[in-house]
Amino acid sequence: MQIGVPLETQAGETRVAATPETVKKLIGQGHQVVIQSGAGVSASLPDAAFEAVGAKIGTAADAYGSELVLKVVAPSESELAQMKPGTVLIGMLNPFNNENIARMAERGITAFALEAAPRTSRAQSLDVLSSQANIAGYKAVLLAAHHYPRFMPMLMTAAGTVKAARVLILGAGVAGLQAIATAKRLGAVIEASDVRPAVKEQIESLGAKFVDVPYETDEERECAEGVGGYARPMPASWMERQAKAVHERAKQSDIVITTALIPGRKAPTLLHEATVAEMKPGSVVIDLAASQGGNCPLTEADQVVVKHGVTIVGLSNLAALVPADASALYARNLLDFLKLTLNAEGFTVNLEDDIVAACLMCRDGQIVRKNG
Ligand code: NAI
Repeated sequence: MQIGVPLETQAGETRVAATPETVKKLIGQGHQVVIQSGAGVSASLPDAAFEAVGAKIGTAADAYGSELVLKVVAPSESELAQMKPGTVLIGMLNPFNNENIARMAERGITAFALEAAPRTSRAQSLDVLSSQANIAGYKAVLLAAHHYPRFMPMLMTAAGTVKAARVLILGAGVAGLQAIATAKRLGAVIEASDVRPAVKEQIESLGAKFVDVPYETDEERECAEGVGGYARPMPASWMERQAKAVHERAKQSDIVITTALIPGRKAPTLLHEATVAEMKPGSVVIDLAASQGGNCPLTEADQVVVKHGVTIVGLSNLAALVPADASALYARNLLDFLKLTLNAEGFTVNLEDDIVAACLMCRDGQIVRKNG
């Protein structure tokens, strides 16, 4: 089967959907791989590295003209137009973007969105949300350190002592937990909060303090349990008490990193303007929910702004700022998905497999998405 790997063209996208490591395995299975010239360059993977493992280097038309196309993000209209009906497309296609899914269905392609994979042990190795959120959590701390006008660790120098930065992390999923671990390595003092009760232990085991907002009703407790590993919107009563706790903690913090997302919905507001206004001058907010409306209303997507003396970073694709490892991990996720669907004979869609069924967005001109 011919597998194509195009150059990603979305602004700021530096990742690539295959690496020489994964291409070598696909070629080893008997497939041909065409890499669009330059597709890996931003991820430090020159064409020669792909050629060395047996890939062909071609044009965009060659890559999109393949029977199976591996992408990072959903194709643009002009990219989609280069794909033949019947092509299989796999990528982070955004299962909640109805318009995109409809366009892909109209084009007659079979598309799989890897973000839709269930949060089960078997799906862990192909969990793109986890592999990329882990990177975003790490990079969020480095960005915060970059914008913060002081040191992160406590330092005792001949010129006097410098205090450790206080970091508040809101949302302790994959990104938040990695942010805690990274800030800890840099010597910060960390507090973190989440709606899901299960994370208290995880936060504490990484050396951070848990900011507890106790539940007062059964409804609050039930919502906090979430569904399928994901958070659900919390009742207004709990959000109000959380806002008060966040207000008090944020005033004492130097850096706030927000990571709270609810699949398919606008991100919840966790850091209100009145709270930012009372943060110390020079404080930094990194809002990882920027692409879903932000956890702070002052966040501007893909911008770094200063408001009330606080630097607010709304970059929406932090994984793309660590392109080589982000691509390496994403390409392995893709390869793990292909283990369920591709063999030497070709591509099969086994709907008995819950992962394959969950990721399938459209087939034979029909939208068949289960989630979203
Ligand atoms: P996410 O990116 O959807 O959300 C980030 C965090 O924000 C979550 O921890 C969520 O609970 C939290 N959040 C949502 N609303 C909030 C609010 N109002 N206040 C504070 N926090 C709020 O979540 P992510 O990181 O993708 O994963 C969440 C969980 O899913 C993991 O911690 C894990 O338990 C589970 N998971 C399971 C996997 C598997 O078994 N294959 C793989 C990855 C995650």
